[in-house]
Amino acid sequence: ERVDAHGLVALPGLVDLHTHLREPGREDAETVATGTRAAARGGFTAVLAMANTNPVTDTAEAAEHLLALGRRDGAAQVVPVGAVSKGLAGSELAELGLMARSAGVRVFSDDGHCVADARLMRRALEYVRAFDGVIAQHAQDPRLAGTDACCHEGELSGRLGLPGWPPAAEATIVARDAELAALTGSRVHVCHVSSAETVDVLRWAQKRGIDITAEVTPHHLMLTTDLLSSYDPTYKVNPPLRPDEHVAALREALADGTIAAVGTDHAPHARHDKEHAFADASPGMLGLETALAVVIETMVTTGRLDWAGVAERMSYAPARIARLSGQGRPLAVGEPANLVLVDPAARSVVDRAASASLSRNNPWHGRELPDPVVLTVWAGRVTHRRGGG
Ligand code: DOR
Ligand code: ZN
Ligand code: ZN
Repeated sequence: ERVDAHGLVALPGLVDLHTHLREPGREDAETVATGTRAAARGGFTAVLAMANTNPVTDTAEAAEHLLALGRRDGAAQVVPVGAVSKGLAGSELAELGLMARSAGVRVFSDDGHCVADARLMRRALEYVRAFDGVIAQHAQDPRLAGTDACCHEGELSGRLGLPGWPPAAEATIVARDAELAALTGSRVHVCHVSSAETVDVLRWAQKRGIDITAEVTPHHLMLTTDLLSSYDPTYKVNPPLRPDEHVAALREALADGTIAAVGTDHAPHARHDKEHAFADASPGMLGLETALAVVIETMVTTGRLDWAGVAERMSYAPARIARLSGQGRPLAVGEPANLVLVDPAARSVVDRAASASLSRNNPWHGRELPDPVVLTVWAGRVTHRRGGG
């Protein structure tokens, strides 16, 4: 098979640290098959599948089941993320060691349900250190915002009458876990950083030599809180969209490496879960198919990152953080390829109906963005070809 790559850029297959595949439990919103097809269309060859499924990925059996689903249905490698606590309830540790041993799990997360208990977080950090695991923490302290918080806390949340998430709910718990990483000699990864305050905490902790990494979502690199004025539930997400000055700080932090990686937080929701009034709608937005486009628009076109920088933030760094051995590194001679061919000039208007995802909660619908992904190859197999459906 021949591919004309004239004028195209070759990148290593992208690795997403933060995907919600919804299987098992919510196969009406997404499945391993549809979510990894969306991944392939976005140039991804591996996704880390978040643990907040039903049942929660908190046992060796659940992690093995997800691995098996990935092998059977995946258009990209599916890497299970383990839950930090049983049922993500925050009271007892999940089967961390068994998940590590039987399914190779290295990333454990409390995504969706922050571990507020510092003692439990300390024990989790001590536990995963033994096998070089990492805690990917959700970074939203529910004690500083109600469980119904859904808007950046500020002038706009007051005007719209929406319960606010202050940036302090993120920065304080990141500071706590930076100290716990120092105390335990373990690694912490911060999910979906959304605020300038958290960037300051990360800089302080990294300067001290603490082993703390972070990711930013494409939507937090581009979308701002004023979109909530329409009360359109499409823009409801945790953590919330924030004002311009935060977006600027996140772009700068991704450029200088304070934030090492992009993680999509691809969060499909069925129509009937998003259809409600803003306050009752499920939080989250799609991200896999448009992630590279948004990174090009916000980071490459603006001169903040070159292509090597994109490869680092979207493939090499995520793979390093997750301790993936087979992906996110330069190919050896003769090795089956994981790569994506990128057209740096193509643009198009995003159409949510054209998505491979089962869900339609696409915040980019109707916007003109780069349309970069021409061809994706996973383990030597073509998993997506532009125009090939
Ligand atoms: O917006 C979000 N949606 N944030 C999360 O942390 C969880 C996610 C989900 O599972 O829908
Ligand atoms: Zn989260
Ligand atoms: Zn998430």
